Amino acid sequence: MTQSMSDAPLRLGVNIDHVATVRNARGGRDPDPARAAMIAQQAGADGLTVHLREDRRHIVDADLPAIMKAVSLPINLEMAATEEMRRIALGLRPHAVCIVPERREERTTEGGLEVARDDKRLREFIAPLREAGARVSLFIAPDEAQVEAAARVGAQVIELHTGSYCLHCADGDDSARDEELRRLFSAAALGKDLGLEVHAGHGLNFENVGPIAAIPELVELNIGHFLIGEAIFVGLEAAIREMRRHMMLARM
Ligand code: PXP
Repeated sequence: MTQSMSDAPLRLGVNIDHVATVRNARGGRDPDPARAAMIAQQAGADGLTVHLREDRRHIVDADLPAIMKAVSLPINLEMAATEEMRRIALGLRPHAVCIVPERREERTTEGGLEVARDDKRLREFIAPLREAGARVSLFIAPDEAQVEAAARVGAQVIELHTGSYCLHCADGDDSARDEELRRLFSAAALGKDLGLEVHAGHGLNFENVGPIAAIPELVELNIGHFLIGEAIFVGLEAAIREMRRHMMLARM
């Protein structure tokens, strides 16, 4: 078996936040994220991701129950480790909660969570979420110390940040891209060894997804911005199906 082959099916989680970004540019109800959720389900998405940011710039509180009612797919709620967000998660009881770092001035989630330096607080933050039945994931850089810390604080899942890899794909720096890919491969292997389920995401598109989808320990990719952008040209269903095809090809 070569390194790029895996028997594990690779799930696709579709992040529909940016449907809300377009809606919020005008106010009102259109386009409706719950409708996007239904189309993603029809297109064969395995799950949906929504990021309720502190400033509510994408999805807003009322979107969450509407999306959960519209589909039967598992919902992955991305959120910062704040009391307000935990209260919302405990009320909604989504399938999974992915804890991300959040800064108001950033355009997107720029870095991974600093788990190693914040382990006591995170352990206490995670415990009630797990008790309520949520699968808790931490969004981290592909860094050995962070993977080990994620296992220590009681996360069941890690999501590896692919943003740097994607940036190097775009800027044509092949050696930096390969180095980042190497870090992703070894973080995924370590995560699995430590008993964690390993996901990845951020910045993925048709061109750069192949080498990531080929990492054998990965069981889920979460992809948003590119798919919603591509949907403008080909429709959301076609964009999701094409992404799935690229992921499948990488696993063959
Ligand atoms: N995973 C996490 C934890 C994220 O914060 C994001 C961005 O919201 C994504 C995946 C999806 O990234 P993108 O929108 O670039 O595909």
